[in-house]
Amino acid sequence: MKKHDILENIRIEKLIFGGSGLATASDGRKIIISGGAIPDAICDLRITKTKKNHIEAQIFRTVKKSPLEVAIPSNWQLYGGCKWLPIPYPKQLEIKEQQITEAFHFLKNETVDTSWHQIIRSPDSEHYRNKVEFSWGKYISDRENIRDEYRFGFHVQGQFDRIEDCWYCVLADEVTNQIFRDIDTMARKSNLPTYDPKTGIGFWRHLVIRRAKKTGETMIIFSVNGNFDMAKVAISNTMENYLTEMVQQLSKKYESIASIYILENTGKADIVQWNQVLLYGETTITDELLGLTFEIQPKSFFQVNTLGAEKLYQSVIDSIHHKWGVLLDLYAGTGTIGILLSQGFKKVYSVELVTSSSQDGNKNAIRNNITNVEFINEKVEDFATKFASEWGKADTIVLDPPRDGLHPSAIPNILGFGAREIIYVSCNPATLVRDISIMLGKNMSHETSDMDATEITSTDKQKENKISENLPKYRISDITPMDMFPHTHHIETVVRLERI
Ligand SMILES: C[S@@+](CC[C@H](N)C(=O)[O-])C[C@H]1O[C@@H](n2cnc3c(N)ncnc32)[C@H](O)[C@@H]1O
Repeated sequence: MKKHDILENIRIEKLIFGGSGLATASDGRKIIISGGAIPDAICDLRITKTKKNHIEAQIFRTVKKSPLEVAIPSNWQLYGGCKWLPIPYPKQLEIKEQQITEAFHFLKNETVDTSWHQIIRSPDSEHYRNKVEFSWGKYISDRENIRDEYRFGFHVQGQFDRIEDCWYCVLADEVTNQIFRDIDTMARKSNLPTYDPKTGIGFWRHLVIRRAKKTGETMIIFSVNGNFDMAKVAISNTMENYLTEMVQQLSKKYESIASIYILENTGKADIVQWNQVLLYGETTITDELLGLTFEIQPKSFFQVNTLGAEKLYQSVIDSIHHKWGVLLDLYAGTGTIGILLSQGFKKVYSVELVTSSSQDGNKNAIRNNITNVEFINEKVEDFATKFASEWGKADTIVLDPPRDGLHPSAIPNILGFGAREIIYVSCNPATLVRDISIMLGKNMSHETSDMDATEITSTDKQKENKISENLPKYRISDITPMDMFPHTHHIETVVRLERI
């Protein structure tokens, strides 16, 4: 079996974390399959990589559809961002729950007495996103004989320069879809070129629509090429005229539009960034979470599924049995968790790396008349070292790290703070289990699950810190999976560790 070979009539056994399919080759090796695998489908696969212990492959052809597969409504669009649409939502929840159970297989002896809670579903399985980012681009390929100068939609997964047109995003609400289509029409008429990331030439780059779920307030952010020279374009109008006309039309048609920005991006990186200029309305929009209000500016971090975030935060709040003393809200983002929990605690430290997030958090606390949350703009690992050296103690700790999980040097200090309970909110089951194993003094390096093979990299080995015998000991008291992102492979998990 070698690269490019076709493996025929392979049954997809299951989906593993990251959304890949899993099957078994005739020589017993596991096959990790990309390209929208659905359990129980029979497929021909093209090998992309062979390794000693597993094979990587792409779906080449579906021989027999999975009995699980459902037809999606004809006006919905299936693209990389909602790959699981053909899998019924209850089945998606079952798969995610199963993945969490399997991820904890390594800790099976430590979870015998654990309360396993049913997966919390997202209140909305469609139209749940309060922020959608569309990209403009072109697709020029002599090999495929394609010269498409105008594309507007989403990136094809793994291809930075290829956009697939969007006509309907089922994860966005109806108003966002309407606004997006109107802007599409206007941008096409403008005759201004779409941006080409290969050459850095062109005008239209990204469109971000943020629509507060609770208040309906809408913010539109145009990201354009800041280096674009209008003088070189043989069209009569100016950029200002085009944008003024668009702003007038949009604000007249949609009452909910509260704010329109333009971001002039002079960099090559494919991100919505750089100089922002307010073209219309207010500088911020406001949304609500569990009764508190949060201000959102163009670059603010805010959970994209508002109703789902409420469920997640409620689960964190419910996990905390003792609400008094000092709370450490680590990897705090804009401090939403700390702010929501501030009532019970004497003092909350919300620690976050990104300066603008800490600043937004501070503003949000003031806005909600909360005075006992201190925002610390620092790396958690540095904060933990300083706090430990000052003999810092905490009563409760909430950890909500990014996908990579906890920084290894932070773990002994976090344990040393002696909290009664530690709530770990995770968006990556593999690093979650790895970190909890370390916290419980278990070493993961000798066992790997299907999930570990794709999710834990060699650099993770460095994270296997020895935990001193003298540190407080914890047990896993509760595990609650949560689905914040229906139709995608993402899963959140809330784990409660209790001091023994
Ligand atoms: C999953 S988000 C948590 C968001 C937040 N708890 C919430 O509910 O909105 C992870 C956060 O950790 C921050 N972060 C990443 N590495 C960090 C580090 N070493 N120290 C502090 N914060 C970090 C990221 O900027 C991001 O805001």
